Amino acid sequence: MKKVLVINGPNLNFLGKREKGIYGEESLEDINNYIRAQGEKLFIHVDFYQSNFEGSIIDKIQKDYMNYDGILINAGAFTHYSYAIYDAILSVPTKFVEVHLSNIFSREEFRKQSVISKACVGSICGFGKFSYVLGLHALKEIFLEV
Ligand code: DQA
Repeated sequence: MKKVLVINGPNLNFLGKREKGIYGEESLEDINNYIRAQGEKLFIHVDFYQSNFEGSIIDKIQKDYMNYDGILINAGAFTHYSYAIYDAILSVPTKFVEVHLSNIFSREEFRKQSVISKACVGSICGFGKFSYVLGLHALKEIFLEV
């Protein structure tokens, strides 16, 4: 069984409460349960980590990367300006896929830029919670390559 870590950044702990028209009614726990179940179908064990703190996300990546075959990251707003998270992704050999619930290209101008994309194998956005499942499929393809 492969192991994947899902990292969620700031404000994603407020899913189901924040901007429901964009992010939906489901809580992060609901979404994580869905991702876990979909992961099982793909023979992938999924663990979850959420933090509102940039440094905590960096510490998590650097402490635990060796325990995972791949990492899905929704860095929230850090996506758009955190060179520190970009560097953290590059500091470890684990493959990352960037995911977003919303379509970051159809929203405010500042969301169109992701400074972490370049450090990731690819990016998936705009499919709600299914973005994470597509990310698991993408990582599975990457695992098969190695
Ligand atoms: C988000 C998009 C970001 O622009 C925003 O700051 C988030 C969530 C998404 O999943 O759509 O917090 O990453």
